[in-house]
Amino acid sequence: MADPTKPEPIEKARQRPEPGFTGHEWDGIKEYDNPLPRWWLWIFYATVVWALGYWILYPAWPMLTQATQGALGYSTRAEAAAEIVAHRERFAPLESRLMDLELAAVSDEPELLRFATAGGAAVFRNHCSQCHGAGAQGAPGGYPSLLDDAWLWGGTVDAIHETIAHGVRYDPDPLTRWSQMPAFGEILPEDEIEGLVEYVLAMSGQPHDESLAAAHAEVYEIQCAACHGLDGEGNQDLGAPSLVDGIWQYGGDRDTIRHTIVYSRYGQMPAFGERLRDVDVRKVAIYVHGLGGGQ
Ligand code: HEC
Ligand code: HEC
Repeated sequence: MADPTKPEPIEKARQRPEPGFTGHEWDGIKEYDNPLPRWWLWIFYATVVWALGYWILYPAWPMLTQATQGALGYSTRAEAAAEIVAHRERFAPLESRLMDLELAAVSDEPELLRFATAGGAAVFRNHCSQCHGAGAQGAPGGYPSLLDDAWLWGGTVDAIHETIAHGVRYDPDPLTRWSQMPAFGEILPEDEIEGLVEYVLAMSGQPHDESLAAAHAEVYEIQCAACHGLDGEGNQDLGAPSLVDGIWQYGGDRDTIRHTIVYSRYGQMPAFGERLRDVDVRKVAIYVHGLGGGQ
């Protein structure tokens, strides 16, 4: 018998069999073969059963062209389609009312107005904000703000509706809004263009060369007033902007005005009458009209 007060010799301790030891050892780290805890095993079996059921009931296995369909025939796509149909049905009465009513009369019906404005805001986010800005504040390079009182083509809800439905200078739509400022670089001599720039600066209340501006009042009258008005007030029938309201579609500094006069511009907006449902065009017109600048 070994003496319990004396330490066991190390060699002997190494040889003593240990319960559950697999015999694998790396750098003093040993691998044991203990049974897994029961609760863990049962949860594991349950997940296996769950997965089998899931494979059978739902689309699961990727195949060549699409995944296996699953016994329930469920698909998120079909569910979304059904939701859209349900949504449309729920709002069908409001939508048909919106189609029947004069646009200008919608503001007399608070519930309809709320419905159209909310729907119009969603249309705007999807189809308009990339050009006009998320808040309809406009963007440099000819994308007008839709928040202010300055309208190129008119700010009544009917005028706004027509602009949206048929677009601006959008050739595929025969009813599109259209006009074109000539490129005066090909028409007028350089010194007259220079003078006109000063004249426009003067009209819009900016620093300018007074004698040059005064000397070109007549050129303005002949060349520009037909579209922009004698006092530069603009003309909505032609989409010709006011030159005196301090709001610029392209820019009011000397160089930009010069560029506009020499080369002209050709602001284009696509027609949405064919891309969107009629009722959505009406909604977004009401939304834009309600943004603050509507007349
Ligand atoms: C591809 C860019 C683009 C998109 C998208 C676009 N617009 Fe425009 N929009 C313009 C431009 C450019 C003008 C200015 C046209 C001009 O020079 O007369 C304009 C003009 C307008 C006007 C006339 C403003 C005025 O002062 O009379 C309204 C209203 C308008 N857009 C509303 C919308 C709505 C609503 C949508 C979405 C359904 C939309 N736009 C989508 C580029 C766009
Ligand atoms: C046939 C009509 C027409 C005539 C003539 C015309 N314009 Fe224009 N003008 C327009 C239209 C339309 C626009 C809007 C630009 C666009 O998107 O095509 C415009 C835009 C402008 C702008 C840009 C305004 C801004 O907000 O950025 C200036 C500046 C301007 N015109 C000056 C003139 C001057 C100066 C003359 C005379 C030499 C002139 N225009 C003659 C129709 C006209």
